[in-house]
Amino acid sequence: MKMQDLIIKTRSYRRYRQDKIEDDFLKELVNLGRLSANHKNRQPLKYIISNQKNINNRIFPTLVWAKNISNWHGPAEEERPVSYIVILHDHEIDGYVGQNPGIAAQSIVLGAMEHGIGACMVANIKRDVLRQALDIKSNLEICLVIALGYPKEKIVLDEMLNDDNTKYYRDDDNVHHVPKRRLEDILLS
Ligand SMILES: Cc1cc2nc3c(=O)[nH]c(=O)nc-3n(C[C@H](O)[C@H](O)[C@H](O)COP(=O)(O)O)c2cc1C
Repeated sequence: MKMQDLIIKTRSYRRYRQDKIEDDFLKELVNLGRLSANHKNRQPLKYIISNQKNINNRIFPTLVWAKNISNWHGPAEEERPVSYIVILHDHEIDGYVGQNPGIAAQSIVLGAMEHGIGACMVANIKRDVLRQALDIKSNLEICLVIALGYPKEKIVLDEMLNDDNTKYYRDDDNVHHVPKRRLEDILLS
């Protein structure tokens, strides 16, 4: 797949089919994070993979989903993520977090979509609850949770009009729309 097509397909999917993802594939995704660019090459990121229902059930309630969509508080039981990758920053390795988690996360979600697996990066996390639920040590900062599963929703990109309305929404057919600013509106010179 051409990079532009892959990036267009790599949307934030929040409703998933329940087909399982192999443990080894999740490890391959973490490997993409491992190989990604990072500040001073200090490689402070650590990862937790969850591919089991009982652990998934501990992670799910700590996540806040799609705040723009009112009256929807996340996927129903039969549409929930089948796997998660939690990205942690180890402060014992380096004090600087910066952009590292986002760069690793983008590698991971692109690698997932290359194989038809959808993902959603979630930063709005009840961190204290997740830390307790997964017994995460205090030197590890919880940066992002990546929810994963085969997409069970259609998402389209819309070209934004000049009204500065960036709010994503679902239409009457349950299609998720994501407005994107036009290239000429962000390219300053
Ligand atoms: C750093 C980051 C944090 C995000 N956190 C959340 C989140 O907490 N909950 C959520 O439902 N979506 C979250 N998202 C997904 C964004 O809402 C999504 O990227 C945005 O609506 C644009 O849609 P797109 O990813 O399909 O382009 C996050 C995305 C990024 C990059």
